[in-house]
Amino acid sequence: MNKKIGVFDSGLGGITVLNYLKDFYPNYDFIYLADSLNCPYGEKTSKEIENLVTKNTLFLESLGVEVVVIACNTASANSGDVERYTQIPIVRIIKPTALAALKKTKTNNILVLATNLTIENKAYDKYLEGVNIYSVKGSRLVPIVESGLMDTKEADRVVLELLDGYQNKGIDTLILGCTHFPLLKMSIKKVMPDVVLVDSFEPVRGELEALIGKGEAGKMQKITLYTTGKIEDFKKQLGIFHLENAIIKEARI
Ligand code: DGL
Repeated sequence: MNKKIGVFDSGLGGITVLNYLKDFYPNYDFIYLADSLNCPYGEKTSKEIENLVTKNTLFLESLGVEVVVIACNTASANSGDVERYTQIPIVRIIKPTALAALKKTKTNNILVLATNLTIENKAYDKYLEGVNIYSVKGSRLVPIVESGLMDTKEADRVVLELLDGYQNKGIDTLILGCTHFPLLKMSIKKVMPDVVLVDSFEPVRGELEALIGKGEAGKMQKITLYTTGKIEDFKKQLGIFHLENAIIKEARI
């Protein structure tokens, strides 16, 4: 039996992280939890998120995972005391992503596009020392992704509203500070074509590797996706992710 890696997010965003990681760890099974019932996280309070992070982590632990990847910036920034409840190592997303952005910027002007709570918490700022930070609250984009409206005029319109005015400030690096936002890259590039978009995939893989080492060749990788929402809705949302062989289940947490 393969060992297991647990990954969670408020909804679909973290599946972009899962999809990236699973190819590097073919000898591991993956268990993904979409906390769709409580999505969006980015408009909740820090305390509410902390409770959800603990519940989600303990749920994944009960299924036998050996590490939990919090594939959500909002949850990573509000997961302070989860280690009090579990011995399982936790991978958080913000610090490694911020450090990756620092390596990319040449102009020292970085834009952070994240959920309202991540921006209000200044979750990225403490890792982005010595640069100018432009913070944009992007929670309005989360329901666009959850409703499958990527690459539509609606997505373009909201992205433009959020980012217009930042084109001439010398910004060369834009942090996709919410795991839903890599799915909006096309719309973002239309407004800011010259910026480097920094996602969290490679940075998170680095953190995981530091904990459990590199993946190895393997067979029969099993992917199980849980939702706390309605399974029928979740199945419809999953179309774009090409996870046809995944087992899909409802989680009652
Ligand atoms: N995907 C999440 C993040 O990275 C949160 C989206 C939400 O539920 O607000 O912050």
